[in-house]
Amino acid sequence: MATTFTLNGNPVTSDAPRNSMLLWVLRERLGMTGTRFGCGVGECGACTVHLDGDPVHSCRLRLSRVEGREITTIEGLSPDRSHALQQAWIEEEVPQCGYCQSGQLMQAASLLAANPSPTRDEIVSHMDGVLCRCGTYGRIIRAIERASAVSAAPAGRTR
Ligand code: FES
Ligand code: FES
Repeated sequence: MATTFTLNGNPVTSDAPRNSMLLWVLRERLGMTGTRFGCGVGECGACTVHLDGDPVHSCRLRLSRVEGREITTIEGLSPDRSHALQQAWIEEEVPQCGYCQSGQLMQAASLLAANPSPTRDEIVSHMDGVLCRCGTYGRIIRAIERASAVSAAPAGRTR
């Protein structure tokens, strides 16, 4: 039985087994290789995508559960890397090896969508659980703060 859902704003239908984990459907059948496999058991956050806007671990999400729902991956965060977080990530030179970064960005994007001006403690709490073996945590926090400030600034004024 095929599964139909919305992926980055476009309708898709997959004939992968319904008990497949979404991560592998995204990577191996739908070409969305920006979403990464880390632990496979819901502990590292490398596979984070949005399900109807909420961050979820795609390594633990069965395809059957996305029927009729909206999935956003790092490829769908913006059409041209113009999302405030992507810009801030560049400005702060966040990535080191880069492996965890799509998960970090998707987790951060869900925070700013719900809370455009988070405190530092709220950022730390929300990002807890998305692991970075390279230890880029300080730059991640600064980038989220930068993106938040840009998003909150009046039109035409950024800082
Ligand atoms: S690969 Fe999904 S949480 Fe680690
Ligand atoms: S940048 Fe290397 S694991 Fe995070």
